[in-house]
Amino acid sequence: MPAAKPAPDATIAARDARRLSTLLEVSQALSGTLNLKSSMQRVLQILIRHHGVVRGMVTLLREGELHVEAIEGFDDRARTISYKLGEGITGQVAQSGKPIVVPRVSKEPEFLNRMPRRADVTRNELSFICVPIVVQRSTVGTLAVDLKFKAERDYESSVKFFGIVSSMIAQALNVQRLVEEERRRLVDENTHLRQELRERYDFSNIIGTSGPTRQMYEQVAQVAQTNTTVLIRGESGTGKELIAHAIHYNSLRAKKPFVKVSCAALPDTLIESELFGYEKGAFTGANARKKGRFELAEAGTIFLDEIGDINMSTQVKLLRVIQEREFERLGGTESVRVNVRVIAATNKDMEKAIAEGTFREDLYYRLNVFTIFVPPLRDRKADMLLLADHFLEKFSREHVTGRATSASSRTRSSGRCSCATARSFTAITCRRRCRRPTPRAPSRACR
Ligand SMILES: Nc1ncnc2c1ncn2[C@@H]1O[C@H](COP(=O)(O)OP(=O)(O)OP(=O)(O)O)[C@@H](O)[C@H]1O
Ligand SMILES: [Mg+2]
Repeated sequence: MPAAKPAPDATIAARDARRLSTLLEVSQALSGTLNLKSSMQRVLQILIRHHGVVRGMVTLLREGELHVEAIEGFDDRARTISYKLGEGITGQVAQSGKPIVVPRVSKEPEFLNRMPRRADVTRNELSFICVPIVVQRSTVGTLAVDLKFKAERDYESSVKFFGIVSSMIAQALNVQRLVEEERRRLVDENTHLRQELRERYDFSNIIGTSGPTRQMYEQVAQVAQTNTTVLIRGESGTGKELIAHAIHYNSLRAKKPFVKVSCAALPDTLIESELFGYEKGAFTGANARKKGRFELAEAGTIFLDEIGDINMSTQVKLLRVIQEREFERLGGTESVRVNVRVIAATNKDMEKAIAEGTFREDLYYRLNVFTIFVPPLRDRKADMLLLADHFLEKFSREHVTGRATSASSRTRSSGRCSCATARSFTAITCRRRCRRPTPRAPSRACR
């Protein structure tokens, strides 16, 4: 290639300024969206607008071949064209990872010219520059441009400029790949965790074969597949939460969220914002809109644990959501509609609470559509040995201290235990397993 005549300083300065502003536009186009195909299209348009590019093309390597990812200045039919590695100039650039410059396309025998061009594109002499797109030291594609032929063009400097553009495309590709990898990892992890949850809350994990327990299973199985509101009642520690999970993970909503709200654990001042969310500026410190648990449970289940402890003003709002599946966020006027199944649980005597005026009767009837009474352990003594085996095995697994044997043989209390709940029974079994003589310093699992 004959040496180009040096350009005057002012021309070089103007060219450099134009290139800098182009690079800024290119970087904005590439970072503006995660849809890289359209970003690359925009990059080609910018090059055409500011750099005398007549037409441009980005190809990416997939399954050993270069496929057109974005084109500008070619007929749309060009989108289907692909090159093998080493085929034509584009294929050679991808194979070698080195740029190629063809100052006069008409004089280059290796130029395949397979791309159908648009009718309005010039038929004058063109120069062709193709640079590799390199991600983590391997070539993943090419950026190719046709420029109007100019004898005085500084091709070395042009190659550097298009090289910078291609490395910006490479960076965007790299970010997109990392995001895609992370997304795939999260999806896999999510699927795995859901599977684990489903297994953990499978019916088979609710231990017991006694008459009252079997009756309870039947009720759970009967209601799980419906959208009915369920109220689970029973003494503390009898397994109400376990049953709420079992209903959700055996329902048609199993793949959607299960959101638990411990009503008794949330102070009155917080419960409404937790349940219904709030708008920006609703109160001091509300710097942004926040979704409430009802919205987070969309298409899934909300579990209102210890519903008997909820205050009267929240009860009114809860009644409306349960009746109309609609509410407003705190500080908002727009109604939010939700598709959520409600499961509530309580160990309180609800009838007494209604009589004392601490629980609204209308809300109680809305919750009490299908009630499951969980019997205390003292009423299902036949379950005790099974529960003892279950907890012994569980704690052996957690403490990894060796054998998980002789559960039933150690549990001589059959028929004599006065435990009301599986929880207190759990603690006793755990203490025995930990071989601690007094309950003063229980292991973490006992607490
Ligand atoms: N039938 C059962 N099979 C296996 N584990 C059980 C059973 N019943 C209760 N448990 C275990 O006992 C513990 C207490 O159960 P859970 O938290 O569901 O009780 P709860 O009724 O919700 O109590 P509370 O009213 O105090 O919230 C949990 O660890 C649970 O796994
Ligand atoms: Mg509970």
